[in-house]
Amino acid sequence: MLGIETSCDETSAAVLRAPRELLGHVILSQDIHALYGGVVPEIASRQHLTAIDDVVAGALREARVDLHDIDVVAATAGPGLIGALLVGLTYAKSLAFALDRPLVAVHHMEAHLFATELEHSDAHPPFIGLLVSGGHTMLLWVPEWGRYELLGETRDDAVGEAFDKVARILGLGFPGGPAIQRVAADGDAKAFRFPRPMLSSNQSPCDDDYYSFSFSGLKTAVLTRVRDLEARGELDARRADVAASFQAAAVAVLVAKVMRAVNEKGCRRVVLGGGVAASHALRSALEAALDGQLFAPSIRLATDNAAMIARAALYHLERGRVAGLDVTAQSDLRFPGMTRRETVAA
Ligand code: KG4
Ligand code: ZN
Repeated sequence: MLGIETSCDETSAAVLRAPRELLGHVILSQDIHALYGGVVPEIASRQHLTAIDDVVAGALREARVDLHDIDVVAATAGPGLIGALLVGLTYAKSLAFALDRPLVAVHHMEAHLFATELEHSDAHPPFIGLLVSGGHTMLLWVPEWGRYELLGETRDDAVGEAFDKVARILGLGFPGGPAIQRVAADGDAKAFRFPRPMLSSNQSPCDDDYYSFSFSGLKTAVLTRVRDLEARGELDARRADVAASFQAAAVAVLVAKVMRAVNEKGCRRVVLGGGVAASHALRSALEAALDGQLFAPSIRLATDNAAMIARAALYHLERGRVAGLDVTAQSDLRFPGMTRRETVAA
């Protein structure tokens, strides 16, 4: 299986031999976006176009296989930046056509759920899934692969987006998550008491927002505090404390919501996915709360990569779900097999 991922700012290709033998894997991150403090879609598309051929060739070389050894081609079809998605999907279509091989179109967020399974064969359903990235924050109940009950998602910013925005407020680099983590290591997480949105109210399972997230108010609270510290000339001395306190607030909300799901579903197995799954603070807090039932991908497989695309594609291929050459990229592609949680009446 050749997997291709180009939904945002990573150009990636992977060669996977069923079920989870990763023979070759190349991830090229587009550092240029750091100059602009965020991903610039037009630049992302152009950089994918420049890099895709070499990235695929690199993965094949690492796997010591030839293009003709590839049995199936897979690519992300959405969600993501439309111009970026089109590069990888069109490339995959062309290859599938030229090699006369089946094509599998993959949902990026479903693939994030499969990432951990590449490294831990026990990371399989039933489990509570927490998908935390730059564009999404979703809590899912996964009774089996292909069936996803959306318990809650964010009402505004995604948690990764909050890390990126707070990093910008603090004058740290992009992407924000790793920068905040670095600076927070020297800070006091209890220095500032930032809000923990959607925790104090919404405490009953009958509440629509029992599992919802909201990070925009937290970001604004940080902004207000930073302006105040700046006015007093104290920001440099307190930057690490702000970063650590923000990180602690974001992590506390995520952990609390996961534990609500663990209790309601009676399932202690939790699988993490998405770029924020790389957060040490999140992983250690969840590990402590769960007593060793946390399955998290390695850092390399947490952020965007093609290995998870190939793995998710394999699952769909085994069920005969191949795509026609007329399949299109969709920036808001529907999560396959996902249903929304029905709030139980009190
Ligand atoms: O999954 P991903 O690579 O791309 C999307 O699909 O969005 O996630 C990227 C996000 C960024 O917002 C980045 O700041 C965040 O993951 N991130 C982190 C950490 N590493 C990456 N957030 C918190 N702590 C980290 N260590
Ligand atoms: Zn992602």
